[in-house]
Amino acid sequence: MIDAQTAKQLVLAAKEARKNAYAPYSRYFVGAAVLTADGRIFGGCNVENASYGASNCAERTAVFKAVSEGVTRIRAIAVMGGPSSCTDEMPDEATPCGICRQVLREFSDPAACDVIIAKSLTNYRITSLGQLLPESFGPENLQY
Ligand code: THU
Repeated sequence: MIDAQTAKQLVLAAKEARKNAYAPYSRYFVGAAVLTADGRIFGGCNVENASYGASNCAERTAVFKAVSEGVTRIRAIAVMGGPSSCTDEMPDEATPCGICRQVLREFSDPAACDVIIAKSLTNYRITSLGQLLPESFGPENLQY
């Protein structure tokens, strides 16, 4: 599991990224930050669309930013989400949706990918992608 200092750093990056959430329809603002295997941090926010299905979650924004910069191994992700009216403390946890879990699966080892679910800078818990997406299908399944 990542150390406490790195976890805090990721939560802070997720909180910062959340400020750019574009969510005029749900008014649910989400920020995420991925830590890549080479130690870099990429933030992302949810980006909604008037054609609702074209919206993108914060987690996928962060992952796609890393991958589009050529970084394809993800070590951890932090997520913080809640109503736009909340800034420092979220009323509930925002856990990654099923599609985001599968996208994370593509670029990580599920057992070793820490998922930090944060309500605030000091109130968060750490689980793993393997816990959130058990018995998953990934790139190895297509190596035949
Ligand atoms: N959303 C995320 O960005 N991440 C999550 O973990 C949960 C949901 C976004 C999608 C949509 O823009 C809004 O939150 C409401 O579902």
